[in-house]
Amino acid sequence: MSNGPELALPAVYNIADLRDQVRQWRKDDLRIGFVPTMGALHDGHLALVTQALETCDRVIVSIFVNPTQFAPGEDFDAYPRTLEADATKLADVGAHLVYSPDAGEMYPEGYVTTVHLTGPTHGLESVSRPHFFNGVATVVCKLFNQVQPDLAVFGEKDYQQLMVIRRMVRDLNLPVEIEGGQTVREADGLALSSRNVYLNATERERASRLNVILQEFADALKSGANVADAQHQAQLKAQSAFDSVDYVVARDAESLEALPSGPIERDARVLAAIRVGKTRLIDNRAAPKA
Ligand code: PAF
Repeated sequence: MSNGPELALPAVYNIADLRDQVRQWRKDDLRIGFVPTMGALHDGHLALVTQALETCDRVIVSIFVNPTQFAPGEDFDAYPRTLEADATKLADVGAHLVYSPDAGEMYPEGYVTTVHLTGPTHGLESVSRPHFFNGVATVVCKLFNQVQPDLAVFGEKDYQQLMVIRRMVRDLNLPVEIEGGQTVREADGLALSSRNVYLNATERERASRLNVILQEFADALKSGANVADAQHQAQLKAQSAFDSVDYVVARDAESLEALPSGPIERDARVLAAIRVGKTRLIDNRAAPKA
């Protein structure tokens, strides 16, 4: 069943082998969980696997650095590829299968079908990465069709992505339940991310301010501050802490639409994307209505 390196847990590298395994598990009436990833796994990914294991008999983790969600000049080539180390971590937390598909099978020569959403894809990440959610939605839709899981778990760290996936699943009637997994943080609050490896020691220290600024922003909203004022304060703090700021905003927690001025009247989410040195980091925090 394997045509790749020797790994610490079973792995499949093509759709036919994946389907053989899933068919077998379905025959045995097992509930299948799925965690899609691009590899370079850290404790945040492993927590998603652990969450899936709580309600599923078998958990499949895909590892695929998806070319269609990177624009030319982004870090597709540099993105860390650590399949063997990833598999060892997955075996340790009890995942059952790695699915590491081949790019040529995922995107066959001359493919012309992609998935585009409006709504939650507008703004935020799409401003500086306009290609991004089409690439994510397309690959996740394909992965769901290939794996056919009962449940899929996505990190809340990529909050806009989670909202986009929820909407795609709802709109296309895909038979999969979606769960969000809480962001896992370092002791100083920095959200775990595969891109944190790009930070040098000074940048790493500065990066931890992001969580503090977002937490203060969320706390201000929770205690009734005017959205526009709290947002302005958070933006000023971010501008003085980081090398550049793509956005620091409060949005409706579900639709991601902009909020009216005044105190929040429904659950909100504060979200940010900034750069420390050359590294772009994103993070977010809940600001539930009191
Ligand atoms: O969040 C990620 O790692 C990726 O965007 C995903 C969902 C695996 C799609 O390539």
